[in-house]
Amino acid sequence: MSNSEFAEPYTIIEPFGGPFKGDVTVPGDKSISHRAVLFAAMAEGTSHLSGVLDSEDVRASIRAVEALGAEVDLKAQPDGSLSGTVTGWGAEGPSQPAAPIDCGNSGTTARLLMGIVAPWDIEVTITGDESLKKRPMRRIVAPLAKMGVDFKPETPETLPITVCGNRALRAIDYASPMASAQLKTAVLLAGVFADGTTTVNEPAPSRNHTELMLPEFNVPTTAGTRVATVTGPAEMLASDVVVPGDPSSAAFVAAAALLKPGSSVTIQNVSLNPARIGFVRTLERMGADIRESYGGHEGKEPRGTITVNYTPVLRGCEIPSQHIASVIDEIPVLALVAAHARGITVFHEVGELRVKESDRLKAIIDGLALLGVDAWEEGDDLFVEGNPQLQVPQGVVFESYGDHRLAMTWALVGACGRVPVSVTRFTCVAVSYPDFLADLKGLVK
Ligand code: S3P
Repeated sequence: MSNSEFAEPYTIIEPFGGPFKGDVTVPGDKSISHRAVLFAAMAEGTSHLSGVLDSEDVRASIRAVEALGAEVDLKAQPDGSLSGTVTGWGAEGPSQPAAPIDCGNSGTTARLLMGIVAPWDIEVTITGDESLKKRPMRRIVAPLAKMGVDFKPETPETLPITVCGNRALRAIDYASPMASAQLKTAVLLAGVFADGTTTVNEPAPSRNHTELMLPEFNVPTTAGTRVATVTGPAEMLASDVVVPGDPSSAAFVAAAALLKPGSSVTIQNVSLNPARIGFVRTLERMGADIRESYGGHEGKEPRGTITVNYTPVLRGCEIPSQHIASVIDEIPVLALVAAHARGITVFHEVGELRVKESDRLKAIIDGLALLGVDAWEEGDDLFVEGNPQLQVPQGVVFESYGDHRLAMTWALVGACGRVPVSVTRFTCVAVSYPDFLADLKGLVK
């Protein structure tokens, strides 16, 4: 189905036919999987991990910690997840890697790694693919420099960056300029080995997996709504982590059910962390028949099911800036749902979308324009004017820009509609959800 006659290979997504019905399990949460691998690598002893997402991004974290001396023995399971052990470098610290660490497309790996290597007497060069090399890194460099870390070049904006570690880091009280869990985590991880309490304050709550997981690895941590602290130097000890399903992947399945008449889907064993299920709240406000049901905890992470039924009439809504962090990765797919709703949906203060795996703000507006949907930006706000009668034209070719979340969003147009669409570089879905199309096909009844 791929064709390389065009400038970029593309994949044709044919309509899947019948409605989506039944139960599905989405792969492990990407944010929690990264943290499980990275924290286990930092800890003394052997951690047991299960449900870990097997994707390009998480493999970048695995390769990174192996290059720094951790022993990783994670094996692919019949359900597609990774499970097994990670033996960390512990008190000895990471070893000097022989070569630059290539984080591929993974911003989480690159940014968290900066905080991880900061407290040790090593120099680590961190790099990535063409997309990652364009993404802003100053936000991580600035607070780490305050803690006493040096960088080469001295004030770098983008990768490649060499982090020159320092064994005598200062604990800091940092007022973060943005709600970013990657920034918060990089500072907290450096703070684990600084003397005293390191505090990160945020303008709005970002995902809190780090604060929830660090105590399991014996790090004195506090987790508030917009403030988190660690007190160092701490002795990180091995732990066991079971990773629940990824709500960001679940959002695509939920959207599929809302776009295909007659659908009714239950997503099993998915993280219900409130900082991650903003899309459920948003869809509810659009009038969607969607609900979550609590089914217990993995460590301190709540998990359960999300059930979605096709809802004929959806209406536009406003997503205020303080809620944006809780839907940040779901905005492309929420914008697609909004395109089918009655009225205008406004996502406030979403400038951050310009520096994700691609310029998602522009890509959303351009992609929706191909469908005849009016979407525009005003300042940093995104507006989508929905059309419940939306008819997908023949022959649409969507650009994914190699961005997994865009590729899956545009694939839904074909999978849930009546005419095929094409999506460029579709294989990038391997970054977070390699079996996306197969899982969706499994629900066709
Ligand atoms: C992530 C945090 C978010 C999110 C990214 C994963 C994490 O990024 O968009 O996909 O695992 O910490 P920011 O920290 O840049 O907001």
